[in-house]
Amino acid sequence: MWLLVLLMWFLVWAGGTYWYLFGKPSPFSLESVRPPGPLELDREKRSKILKQGFRKEKVPENLDAIVIGSGIGGMTAAATLAKLGKRVLVLEQHDQAGGCCHTFTEKGFEFDVGLHYIGQLHENSLFKIIMDQITEGQLQFVELDKHFDTLVIGSGEKIRKYTIYSGKTEMEEHLKAQFPDDTKAVEEFFKIMKISASKTHLLAALKLIPQWMALFLLKSGIADLCSSIFHLVGTNATAVANSLTSNKDLHIIFNYFFYGVPPKQSSSVINLLMLHHYKRGAYYPKGGASEIPFHIAKVIQKYGGRVLVRAPVNHILVNSKGAAYDTTASARISACLVDISSWMTAHQLKLNPSKTELLIIPGVTVKKDQEDVEVQAPVIISNCGVFNTFQKLLPAHIQTKPEIQKRVNMMRPGRGCLLVFSGFDATQEGLGINSTNTWLFKSNDMDAMMDEFFSMGKDEAPDNIPMMYLTFPSAKDPTSKIRHPGKSCMTMLLMVKYEWFEEWKDAPVRKRGDDYLAYKMRFANNAFDWACSQFPKLRDKLVFQEVSTPLSNAHYLGSYLGAMYSAEQNLERFQVEAMARNRCDTPVKNLFISGQDVFSSGIAGALHGGLLCASTVLKHIVYIDLLMLKKKLKRKKASGADEQVKKRL
Ligand SMILES: Cc1cc2nc3c(=O)[nH]c(=O)nc-3n(C[C@H](O)[C@H](O)[C@H](O)COP(=O)(O)OP(=O)(O)OC[C@H]3O[C@@H](n4cnc5c(N)ncnc54)[C@H](O)[C@@H]3O)c2cc1C
Ligand SMILES: *[C@@H]1O[C@H](CO)[C@@H](O)[C@H](O)[C@H]1NC(C)=O
Ligand SMILES: *[C@@H]1O[C@H](CO)[C@@H](O)[C@H](O)[C@H]1NC(C)=O
Repeated sequence: MWLLVLLMWFLVWAGGTYWYLFGKPSPFSLESVRPPGPLELDREKRSKILKQGFRKEKVPENLDAIVIGSGIGGMTAAATLAKLGKRVLVLEQHDQAGGCCHTFTEKGFEFDVGLHYIGQLHENSLFKIIMDQITEGQLQFVELDKHFDTLVIGSGEKIRKYTIYSGKTEMEEHLKAQFPDDTKAVEEFFKIMKISASKTHLLAALKLIPQWMALFLLKSGIADLCSSIFHLVGTNATAVANSLTSNKDLHIIFNYFFYGVPPKQSSSVINLLMLHHYKRGAYYPKGGASEIPFHIAKVIQKYGGRVLVRAPVNHILVNSKGAAYDTTASARISACLVDISSWMTAHQLKLNPSKTELLIIPGVTVKKDQEDVEVQAPVIISNCGVFNTFQKLLPAHIQTKPEIQKRVNMMRPGRGCLLVFSGFDATQEGLGINSTNTWLFKSNDMDAMMDEFFSMGKDEAPDNIPMMYLTFPSAKDPTSKIRHPGKSCMTMLLMVKYEWFEEWKDAPVRKRGDDYLAYKMRFANNAFDWACSQFPKLRDKLVFQEVSTPLSNAHYLGSYLGAMYSAEQNLERFQVEAMARNRCDTPVKNLFISGQDVFSSGIAGALHGGLLCASTVLKHIVYIDLLMLKKKLKRKKASGADEQVKKRL
């Protein structure tokens, strides 16, 4: 008798697991990708997609989900759900869609705000396949020159220049040639990089399997037996660099993508992944960054969804009985029943329908002309970061619940950034610029430089910029010559502290006063001088300059305390247990987190945050669908090649 019960249980479990993994329709297909159409240059037509203002009448009926924030993470989650027939509404606070992928044009110069280059877009890479699926093949990328980054360390006579090349083997070979005494260190570095890249999915899986299982695997040591990545991800980047070489210039190369925390407080895996990201090439969206939201929004619309802007969500509504918020044991059991019941519904079996009541979250309110407009949907996906979600949008009595506090306290708000947007009345050739990005460092000790800079007072900081990044967007996009003839632009980026700008936080945007303007110009002028030391022809042709600060980030990107990458990418966040606990579902039932706070920042990181979120919402791992699609594509390509050979014969 017991054996029979056990057997029954096993069969149900195995069947359930199979169904969970393979038994649901895939949102992705070969057929949904078509050859790219011409670039849409008509401003009005673009605005119709990217700048549709919020009005209650525009909200589709019977919504299945609301996504707060139109960054790449939210749009990816929305498009994935939409392609499965779910009706999705994306709400964006800014006046255009895209989040970090939006662009702005002023005086004929177009600037992207949060996308300088993306990697891993070579043919049949998983990332490219996803991009193709959520834009139905309409988004195109241009590869930058193989020499995609230059690093300049030091100044005066002691200045050193290093160049970074992409290429499966070239990246490593090229570094070895520049560090002939450290070839072993470089080799070892690339070995660890390979492990990190090939095992990243194990880290992501921690967020997909049940949390208790993830914690069991980690705490029991089973995870460590499976792969060294679980240990490596919690090791700081300085420790790894020190273990390989004492050459400080090489340390910089290993960790040059700065993002607010010094290498000693960064996860080595994250730093390794950043360089690895560009190993197979650095890319830029053809037509500029706004092409990304433009094409994803079209797909969302095609399937009955909507992307509406000027729609700041100011509250997430939680069921009046508090039923939406319920983490008691009985709720968990009911949730379990709901899982079973949705499985049964899928198989046309009936269960007491009253059990599903627990699933209801009423919706959100959008602030419109000083009024709160209510929009309802059973699922809320928040793509505006954990701090905005948990500390601003949830009702106050829920914010203070210990479960919520625990989630919030796992992370810290990240550092802000300052961007200098410069426009030149000259062509690329006239200025001697190209698609290669430049990273400038005052010295080769990044830990010390960052510690020192971030401990400075407000007045000292502008004259002591220790590191900076600069790029020429117009030189990366070949269509820029058509769209903005005779013009070139440059963006400079440096990390800054929110506190330095805090005194102006309550002043209205663009009316923050002369002292604010003067203060940010001190940073800008020093940065521009540094840029001119590398590109002397820039100075005479400068006709436009605009500076954004953490306060601009907070206004235009809705970022909490003006952070560049939302939550800080520190080592604590990437400790395995923290990774397992920071997931897409939240203590509030049917409220899900998407975007860069889920796994990591970056366009790719945030996109995966969106896919992990869609998987959690759908209770179906869409990565399996993607891997199957990848296989199909490979087969198709192979048979295509066969045909070609046959034809030639
Ligand atoms: C200056 C800069 C340069 C970068 N360069 C690169 C790069 O070269 N390569 C790379 O891969 N990554 C880069 N990144 C990082 C990358 O852009 C981000 O990590 C990623 O785009 C984040 O996507 P997301 O969807 O998580 O969030 P976001 O794009 O930040 O989207 C969040 C959205 O939510 C909206 N929102 C906030 N609150 C509300 C509300 N209450 N109601 C409605 N909407 C709201 C915001 O307006 C915003 O549109 C850069 C970032 C910055 C800032
Ligand atoms: C970095 O890791 C090394 C080796 O584990 C350790 O000695 C050092 O204290 C760590 N640094 C920081 C800042 O945690
Ligand atoms: C871009 O210009 C820099 C500086 O002039 C030069 O070192 C680099 O090789 C150029 N890159 C390409 C891809 O031509």
